[in-house]
Amino acid sequence: MNGSLPPGRALLLSLDAGETRARVVVQPPPSPAEGELLVRVLYSAVNYKDALAVSGRGRILRRSPLVGGIDAAGVVVTSRAPGWLPGAAVVAAGCGLGEERDGGYADYVCAPADLWTRLPEGLTPRTAAALGSAGLTAALALARLEEAGLRPGEGEVLITGASGGVGSFAVDLFSRVGYRVVALSGRTVLREYLTTLGAVEVLPPPERLEGPAGLASARWAGAVDNVGGPTLAWLLERVRRGGKVAAIGMAAGSTVTLSVFPFILRQVDLLGVNSTEIDPERRAWLWDRLAGPWRPPHLDLIAARTVGFDDLPRAVDDVLERRHRGRIVVRLGAGVAEPAC
Ligand SMILES: NC(=O)c1ccc[n+]([C@@H]2O[C@H](COP(=O)([O-])OP(=O)(O)OC[C@H]3O[C@@H](n4cnc5c(N)ncnc54)[C@H](OP(=O)(O)O)[C@@H]3O)[C@@H](O)[C@H]2O)c1
Repeated sequence: MNGSLPPGRALLLSLDAGETRARVVVQPPPSPAEGELLVRVLYSAVNYKDALAVSGRGRILRRSPLVGGIDAAGVVVTSRAPGWLPGAAVVAAGCGLGEERDGGYADYVCAPADLWTRLPEGLTPRTAAALGSAGLTAALALARLEEAGLRPGEGEVLITGASGGVGSFAVDLFSRVGYRVVALSGRTVLREYLTTLGAVEVLPPPERLEGPAGLASARWAGAVDNVGGPTLAWLLERVRRGGKVAAIGMAAGSTVTLSVFPFILRQVDLLGVNSTEIDPERRAWLWDRLAGPWRPPHLDLIAARTVGFDDLPRAVDDVLERRHRGRIVVRLGAGVAEPAC
Protein backbone atom coordinates (compact mmCIF):
# COMPACT_ATOMS: atom_id res chain seq x y z
CA MET A 1 0.00 0.00 0.00
CA ASN A 2 1.02 3.57 -0.64
CA GLY A 3 0.88 5.37 2.71
CA SER A 4 1.33 8.99 1.62
CA LEU A 5 -1.68 9.07 -0.72
CA PRO A 6 -5.35 9.33 0.31
CA PRO A 7 -7.63 6.32 -0.23
CA GLY A 8 -9.34 6.10 -3.61
CA ARG A 9 -12.54 4.65 -5.02
CA ALA A 10 -12.66 1.56 -7.20
CA LEU A 11 -15.41 -0.48 -8.87
CA LEU A 12 -14.69 -3.98 -7.65
CA LEU A 13 -16.15 -6.88 -9.62
CA SER A 14 -16.39 -10.32 -8.06
CA LEU A 15 -17.72 -13.65 -9.17
CA ASP A 16 -19.97 -15.24 -6.62
CA ALA A 17 -21.48 -18.65 -7.47
CA GLY A 18 -21.41 -17.76 -11.16
CA GLU A 19 -22.99 -14.31 -10.58
CA THR A 20 -21.05 -11.07 -11.03
CA ARG A 21 -21.28 -8.54 -8.22
CA ALA A 22 -20.16 -4.94 -8.76
CA ARG A 23 -19.59 -2.67 -5.77
CA VAL A 24 -17.78 0.57 -5.07
CA VAL A 25 -15.03 0.25 -2.48
CA VAL A 26 -12.77 2.85 -0.92
CA GLN A 27 -9.27 1.54 -0.47
CA PRO A 28 -5.68 2.74 -0.09
CA PRO A 29 -3.83 3.11 -3.38
CA PRO A 30 -2.01 -0.11 -4.34
CA SER A 31 1.79 -0.24 -4.12
CA PRO A 32 3.61 -0.84 -7.39
CA ALA A 33 5.76 -3.96 -7.59
CA GLU A 34 9.19 -3.89 -9.24
CA GLY A 35 8.72 -2.89 -12.90
CA GLU A 36 5.27 -1.35 -12.30
CA LEU A 37 3.83 2.15 -12.38
CA LEU A 38 1.21 3.52 -10.00
CA VAL A 39 -1.06 5.78 -12.06
CA ARG A 40 -3.63 8.32 -10.92
CA VAL A 41 -6.46 7.55 -13.30
CA LEU A 42 -8.19 10.63 -14.70
CA TYR A 43 -10.36 9.03 -17.39
CA SER A 44 -11.62 5.65 -18.51
CA ALA A 45 -14.43 4.65 -20.90
CA VAL A 46 -17.22 2.13 -21.34
CA ASN A 47 -16.35 -0.52 -23.94
CA TYR A 48 -18.70 -3.29 -24.96
CA LYS A 49 -16.49 -5.68 -23.01
CA ASP A 50 -16.74 -3.43 -19.92
CA ALA A 51 -20.52 -3.56 -20.18
CA LEU A 52 -20.38 -7.38 -20.35
CA ALA A 53 -17.95 -7.54 -17.41
CA VAL A 54 -19.78 -5.12 -15.09
CA SER A 55 -23.21 -6.61 -15.81
CA GLY A 56 -21.96 -10.19 -15.72
CA ARG A 57 -23.59 -10.83 -19.13
CA GLY A 58 -20.29 -12.03 -20.56
CA ARG A 59 -17.50 -14.14 -19.10
CA ILE A 60 -14.85 -11.44 -19.15
CA LEU A 61 -13.24 -11.71 -15.70
CA ARG A 62 -10.34 -14.09 -15.59
CA ARG A 63 -9.66 -13.34 -11.94
CA SER A 64 -11.93 -12.46 -9.04
CA PRO A 65 -12.19 -10.04 -7.38
CA LEU A 66 -10.86 -7.48 -9.80
CA VAL A 67 -11.28 -3.75 -10.50
CA GLY A 68 -13.16 -3.25 -13.80
CA GLY A 69 -12.26 -0.91 -16.66
CA ILE A 70 -10.42 -1.93 -19.80
CA ASP A 71 -9.05 1.55 -20.49
CA ALA A 72 -7.19 3.94 -18.22
CA ALA A 73 -5.51 7.27 -18.87
CA GLY A 74 -3.85 9.45 -16.28
CA VAL A 75 -0.60 10.46 -14.70
CA VAL A 76 2.22 8.42 -13.16
CA VAL A 77 2.33 8.91 -9.39
CA THR A 78 5.04 6.41 -8.46
CA SER A 79 7.44 4.59 -10.76
CA ARG A 80 9.32 1.40 -10.01
CA ALA A 81 10.38 1.01 -13.63
CA PRO A 82 13.54 2.44 -15.18
CA GLY A 83 12.93 5.28 -17.62
CA TRP A 84 9.55 6.31 -16.21
CA LEU A 85 9.14 9.36 -14.01
CA PRO A 86 6.25 10.62 -11.89
CA GLY A 87 4.18 13.20 -13.76
CA ALA A 88 4.26 11.40 -17.13
CA ALA A 89 0.86 11.29 -18.85
CA VAL A 90 0.06 7.72 -19.92
CA VAL A 91 -2.63 5.48 -21.37
CA ALA A 92 -3.29 1.75 -21.21
CA ALA A 93 -6.02 0.29 -23.42
CA GLY A 94 -6.80 -3.39 -23.31
CA CYS A 95 -3.64 -5.17 -22.19
CA GLY A 96 -5.67 -7.31 -19.76
CA LEU A 97 -6.87 -4.35 -17.63
CA GLY A 98 -10.32 -5.10 -16.25
CA GLU A 99 -9.99 -8.73 -17.41
CA GLU A 100 -7.00 -10.36 -15.76
CA ARG A 101 -5.63 -7.44 -13.73
CA ASP A 102 -7.14 -4.44 -11.97
CA GLY A 103 -8.41 -1.87 -14.45
CA GLY A 104 -9.27 1.77 -14.91
CA TYR A 105 -12.51 2.14 -12.92
CA ALA A 106 -10.48 3.36 -9.95
CA ASP A 107 -8.71 6.47 -8.75
CA TYR A 108 -5.41 4.55 -8.78
CA VAL A 109 -4.18 1.56 -10.74
CA CYS A 110 -0.87 -0.32 -10.82
CA ALA A 111 0.33 -2.16 -13.92
CA PRO A 112 3.65 -3.18 -15.46
CA ALA A 113 5.37 -0.30 -17.27
CA ASP A 114 5.33 -2.06 -20.65
CA LEU A 115 1.52 -2.01 -20.68
CA TRP A 116 1.50 1.81 -20.55
CA THR A 117 2.13 4.13 -23.47
CA ARG A 118 3.38 7.67 -22.94
CA LEU A 119 0.88 10.08 -24.44
CA PRO A 120 2.22 11.49 -27.67
CA GLU A 121 2.05 15.22 -28.19
CA GLY A 122 -1.48 16.22 -29.09
CA LEU A 123 -3.30 13.78 -26.79
CA THR A 124 -4.49 14.48 -23.25
CA PRO A 125 -5.67 11.85 -20.76
CA ARG A 126 -9.23 12.72 -21.79
CA THR A 127 -8.70 12.35 -25.53
CA ALA A 128 -6.61 9.21 -24.97
CA ALA A 129 -9.39 7.57 -22.93
CA ALA A 130 -11.97 8.79 -25.45
CA LEU A 131 -10.02 6.92 -28.12
CA GLY A 132 -9.05 4.05 -25.79
CA SER A 133 -9.43 0.45 -26.94
CA ALA A 134 -11.97 1.49 -29.58
CA GLY A 135 -9.70 3.99 -31.32
CA LEU A 136 -6.68 1.74 -31.00
CA THR A 137 -8.62 -1.17 -32.51
CA ALA A 138 -9.90 0.91 -35.43
CA ALA A 139 -6.33 2.07 -36.08
CA LEU A 140 -5.01 -1.50 -35.89
CA ALA A 141 -7.68 -2.61 -38.37
CA LEU A 142 -6.56 0.11 -40.79
CA ALA A 143 -2.92 -0.94 -40.34
CA ARG A 144 -3.74 -4.64 -40.89
CA LEU A 145 -5.82 -3.93 -44.01
CA GLU A 146 -3.24 -1.61 -45.55
CA GLU A 147 -0.37 -3.97 -44.72
CA ALA A 148 -2.34 -6.60 -46.64
CA GLY A 149 -2.52 -4.22 -49.61
CA LEU A 150 -5.85 -2.35 -49.33
CA ARG A 151 -5.73 1.17 -50.72
CA PRO A 152 -8.36 3.96 -50.88
CA GLY A 153 -8.72 3.86 -54.67
CA GLU A 154 -9.78 0.23 -54.71
CA GLY A 155 -13.41 0.63 -53.82
CA GLU A 156 -15.88 0.90 -50.97
CA VAL A 157 -15.20 -0.24 -47.42
CA LEU A 158 -18.11 -1.54 -45.34
CA ILE A 159 -18.07 -0.95 -41.57
CA THR A 160 -20.54 -2.93 -39.48
CA GLY A 161 -21.75 -2.04 -35.99
CA ALA A 162 -20.99 1.43 -37.26
CA SER A 163 -22.59 3.50 -34.51
CA GLY A 164 -20.65 1.81 -31.67
CA GLY A 165 -17.25 2.83 -30.33
CA VAL A 166 -14.97 0.92 -32.70
CA GLY A 167 -17.43 1.38 -35.58
CA SER A 168 -17.65 5.18 -35.16
CA PHE A 169 -13.88 5.56 -35.04
CA ALA A 170 -13.49 3.25 -38.04
CA VAL A 171 -15.98 5.31 -40.10
CA ASP A 172 -14.24 8.55 -39.09
CA LEU A 173 -10.68 7.29 -39.52
CA PHE A 174 -11.12 5.41 -42.81
CA SER A 175 -12.97 8.42 -44.26
CA ARG A 176 -10.21 10.71 -43.10
CA VAL A 177 -7.51 8.76 -44.92
CA GLY A 178 -9.47 8.69 -48.17
CA TYR A 179 -11.66 5.56 -48.19
CA ARG A 180 -15.22 5.61 -49.47
CA VAL A 181 -16.97 4.28 -46.37
CA VAL A 182 -20.38 2.64 -46.21
CA ALA A 183 -21.78 2.22 -42.69
CA LEU A 184 -23.98 -0.74 -41.75
CA SER A 185 -25.99 0.05 -38.65
CA GLY A 186 -29.04 -1.28 -36.85
CA ARG A 187 -29.72 2.33 -35.86
CA THR A 188 -30.55 4.06 -39.09
CA VAL A 189 -31.91 6.92 -36.93
CA LEU A 190 -28.24 7.76 -36.56
CA ARG A 191 -27.82 8.29 -40.31
CA GLU A 192 -26.95 11.97 -39.88
CA TYR A 193 -24.34 11.16 -37.21
CA LEU A 194 -22.74 8.51 -39.44
CA THR A 195 -22.71 10.72 -42.53
CA THR A 196 -21.15 13.52 -40.47
CA LEU A 197 -18.37 11.05 -39.60
CA GLY A 198 -17.87 10.49 -43.31
CA ALA A 199 -20.09 7.58 -44.38
CA VAL A 200 -21.25 8.05 -47.98
CA GLU A 201 -24.15 5.67 -47.39
CA VAL A 202 -25.82 4.11 -44.35
CA LEU A 203 -27.27 0.62 -44.81
CA PRO A 204 -29.65 -1.19 -42.48
CA PRO A 205 -28.63 -4.73 -41.47
CA PRO A 206 -29.58 -7.38 -44.04
CA GLU A 207 -33.14 -8.57 -43.57
CA ARG A 208 -32.48 -12.27 -44.01
CA LEU A 209 -29.35 -13.96 -42.76
CA GLU A 210 -30.00 -17.54 -43.66
CA GLY A 211 -26.54 -19.04 -43.60
CA PRO A 212 -23.97 -19.31 -46.33
CA ALA A 213 -25.14 -19.01 -49.91
CA GLY A 214 -21.63 -19.19 -51.37
CA LEU A 215 -21.19 -15.98 -53.28
CA ALA A 216 -23.35 -12.93 -53.95
CA SER A 217 -22.90 -9.89 -56.13
CA ALA A 218 -19.54 -8.39 -55.12
CA ARG A 219 -19.37 -4.84 -53.80
CA TRP A 220 -16.83 -4.31 -51.01
CA ALA A 221 -13.10 -3.81 -51.57
CA GLY A 222 -12.66 -3.99 -47.81
CA ALA A 223 -14.64 -4.36 -44.61
CA VAL A 224 -14.31 -3.88 -40.88
CA ASP A 225 -16.63 -6.17 -38.95
CA ASN A 226 -17.58 -5.41 -35.35
CA VAL A 227 -20.58 -7.68 -35.27
CA GLY A 228 -19.48 -11.24 -36.13
CA GLY A 229 -22.05 -14.04 -36.42
CA PRO A 230 -24.08 -14.33 -39.65
CA THR A 231 -23.29 -10.69 -40.59
CA LEU A 232 -19.65 -11.63 -41.14
CA ALA A 233 -20.65 -14.55 -43.39
CA TRP A 234 -23.06 -12.26 -45.28
CA LEU A 235 -20.47 -9.57 -45.95
CA LEU A 236 -17.72 -12.04 -46.93
CA GLU A 237 -19.95 -13.29 -49.75
CA ARG A 238 -20.10 -9.73 -51.10
CA VAL A 239 -16.39 -8.87 -51.04
CA ARG A 240 -14.73 -8.26 -54.37
CA ARG A 241 -11.89 -10.35 -55.79
CA GLY A 242 -8.75 -9.88 -53.66
CA GLY A 243 -10.71 -7.86 -51.06
CA LYS A 244 -9.73 -7.73 -47.39
CA VAL A 245 -11.86 -8.02 -44.27
CA ALA A 246 -10.78 -7.18 -40.71
CA ALA A 247 -12.66 -9.26 -38.09
CA ILE A 248 -12.84 -7.33 -34.84
CA GLY A 249 -15.96 -8.02 -32.88
CA MET A 250 -18.68 -10.44 -31.97
CA ALA A 251 -21.52 -8.18 -30.77
CA ALA A 252 -23.98 -10.47 -32.59
CA GLY A 253 -22.18 -13.75 -31.98
CA SER A 254 -18.84 -15.50 -31.96
CA THR A 255 -19.85 -18.45 -34.14
CA VAL A 256 -19.92 -18.12 -37.91
CA THR A 257 -20.83 -20.65 -40.58
CA LEU A 258 -18.87 -19.73 -43.68
CA SER A 259 -18.73 -20.80 -47.27
CA VAL A 260 -15.17 -21.34 -48.53
CA PHE A 261 -16.03 -19.77 -51.92
CA PRO A 262 -15.12 -16.16 -51.03
CA PHE A 263 -11.64 -17.38 -50.06
CA ILE A 264 -11.08 -19.82 -52.92
CA LEU A 265 -12.86 -18.20 -55.85
CA ARG A 266 -12.35 -14.53 -54.98
CA GLN A 267 -9.16 -14.86 -52.90
CA VAL A 268 -10.64 -12.75 -50.11
CA ASP A 269 -8.38 -12.26 -47.06
CA LEU A 270 -9.91 -12.48 -43.59
CA LEU A 271 -7.62 -10.73 -41.12
CA GLY A 272 -7.92 -11.06 -37.35
CA VAL A 273 -7.51 -7.96 -35.21
CA ASN A 274 -6.52 -8.16 -31.56
CA SER A 275 -5.68 -4.86 -29.91
CA THR A 276 -5.18 -6.33 -26.44
CA GLU A 277 -1.97 -8.13 -27.36
CA ILE A 278 0.15 -5.74 -29.38
CA ASP A 279 3.85 -5.38 -28.65
CA PRO A 280 4.74 -2.06 -27.01
CA GLU A 281 6.56 -0.62 -30.08
CA ARG A 282 3.62 -1.24 -32.40
CA ARG A 283 1.22 0.08 -29.78
CA ALA A 284 3.27 3.28 -29.42
CA TRP A 285 3.32 3.61 -33.22
CA LEU A 286 -0.47 3.30 -33.36
CA TRP A 287 -0.91 5.92 -30.63
CA ASP A 288 1.42 8.24 -32.56
CA ARG A 289 -0.71 7.76 -35.66
CA LEU A 290 -3.88 8.44 -33.64
CA ALA A 291 -2.35 11.68 -32.33
CA GLY A 292 -1.32 12.73 -35.84
CA PRO A 293 -2.32 11.62 -39.34
CA TRP A 294 -4.94 9.12 -38.14
CA ARG A 295 -6.56 11.35 -35.52
CA PRO A 296 -10.30 10.86 -35.97
CA PRO A 297 -11.52 14.33 -37.03
CA HIS A 298 -14.80 13.96 -35.12
CA LEU A 299 -13.35 12.67 -31.86
CA ASP A 300 -15.37 15.17 -29.79
CA LEU A 301 -18.61 14.20 -31.51
CA ILE A 302 -17.93 10.47 -31.11
CA ALA A 303 -17.01 10.89 -27.43
CA ALA A 304 -19.59 13.55 -26.63
CA ARG A 305 -20.88 11.87 -23.47
CA THR A 306 -18.91 11.90 -20.22
CA VAL A 307 -20.21 10.20 -17.09
CA GLY A 308 -19.02 10.21 -13.50
CA PHE A 309 -18.19 7.15 -11.47
CA ASP A 310 -21.71 7.07 -10.03
CA ASP A 311 -23.33 7.04 -13.49
CA LEU A 312 -21.45 3.95 -14.63
CA PRO A 313 -24.34 1.48 -14.11
CA ARG A 314 -26.64 3.52 -16.39
CA ALA A 315 -23.92 3.88 -19.01
CA VAL A 316 -23.35 0.11 -18.93
CA ASP A 317 -27.08 -0.49 -19.47
CA ASP A 318 -27.12 1.95 -22.38
CA VAL A 319 -24.30 0.05 -24.11
CA LEU A 320 -25.96 -3.32 -23.55
CA GLU A 321 -29.32 -2.04 -24.78
CA ARG A 322 -27.75 -0.25 -27.78
CA ARG A 323 -28.99 3.14 -26.61
CA HIS A 324 -25.54 4.75 -26.89
CA ARG A 325 -23.62 6.02 -29.85
CA GLY A 326 -19.85 6.24 -30.16
CA ARG A 327 -17.93 6.35 -26.90
CA ILE A 328 -18.89 7.01 -23.31
CA VAL A 329 -15.99 8.54 -21.40
CA VAL A 330 -15.74 8.03 -17.63
CA ARG A 331 -14.32 10.88 -15.56
CA LEU A 332 -12.34 9.81 -12.52
CA GLY A 333 -10.14 11.98 -10.39
CA ALA A 334 -12.64 14.85 -10.39
CA GLY A 335 -10.87 17.96 -9.18
CA VAL A 336 -7.43 16.72 -10.27
CA ALA A 337 -5.96 19.00 -12.92
CA GLU A 338 -5.07 17.45 -16.28
CA PRO A 339 -1.44 17.74 -17.29
CA ALA A 340 -0.79 19.92 -20.32
CA CYS A 341 0.36 17.60 -23.13
N1 LIG B 1 -10.56 -7.51 -31.52
C1 LIG B 1 -10.26 -6.56 -30.65
O1 LIG B 1 -9.10 -6.31 -30.32
C2 LIG B 1 -11.39 -5.76 -30.08
C3 LIG B 1 -11.14 -4.55 -29.40
C4 LIG B 1 -12.24 -3.78 -28.97
C5 LIG B 1 -13.53 -4.25 -29.15
N2 LIG B 1 -13.72 -5.47 -29.76
C6 LIG B 1 -15.06 -5.98 -30.02
O2 LIG B 1 -15.60 -5.16 -31.04
C7 LIG B 1 -17.02 -5.04 -30.88
C8 LIG B 1 -17.38 -3.57 -30.77
O3 LIG B 1 -16.87 -3.05 -29.54
P1 LIG B 1 -17.34 -1.61 -29.02
O4 LIG B 1 -16.68 -1.37 -27.72
O5 LIG B 1 -17.24 -0.65 -30.14
O6 LIG B 1 -18.88 -1.93 -28.73
P2 LIG B 1 -20.17 -1.00 -28.89
O7 LIG B 1 -19.83 0.42 -28.71
O8 LIG B 1 -21.22 -1.62 -28.04
O9 LIG B 1 -20.53 -1.21 -30.44
C9 LIG B 1 -21.01 -2.44 -30.94
C10 LIG B 1 -21.99 -2.12 -32.06
O10 LIG B 1 -22.35 -3.35 -32.70
C11 LIG B 1 -23.73 -3.29 -33.05
N3 LIG B 1 -24.41 -4.37 -32.31
C12 LIG B 1 -24.52 -4.52 -30.97
N4 LIG B 1 -25.22 -5.61 -30.67
C13 LIG B 1 -25.55 -6.17 -31.83
C14 LIG B 1 -26.29 -7.31 -32.19
N5 LIG B 1 -26.81 -8.13 -31.27
N6 LIG B 1 -26.44 -7.60 -33.49
C15 LIG B 1 -25.91 -6.81 -34.44
N7 LIG B 1 -25.19 -5.68 -34.15
C16 LIG B 1 -25.02 -5.38 -32.86
C17 LIG B 1 -24.25 -1.93 -32.65
O11 LIG B 1 -24.04 -1.05 -33.76
P3 LIG B 1 -25.24 -0.58 -34.69
O12 LIG B 1 -26.39 -0.28 -33.77
O13 LIG B 1 -24.70 0.63 -35.40
O14 LIG B 1 -25.55 -1.72 -35.63
C18 LIG B 1 -23.31 -1.53 -31.55
O15 LIG B 1 -23.23 -0.14 -31.36
C19 LIG B 1 -17.37 -5.86 -29.63
O16 LIG B 1 -17.75 -7.17 -30.01
C20 LIG B 1 -16.04 -5.90 -28.87
O17 LIG B 1 -15.96 -7.01 -28.01
C21 LIG B 1 -12.69 -6.22 -30.21
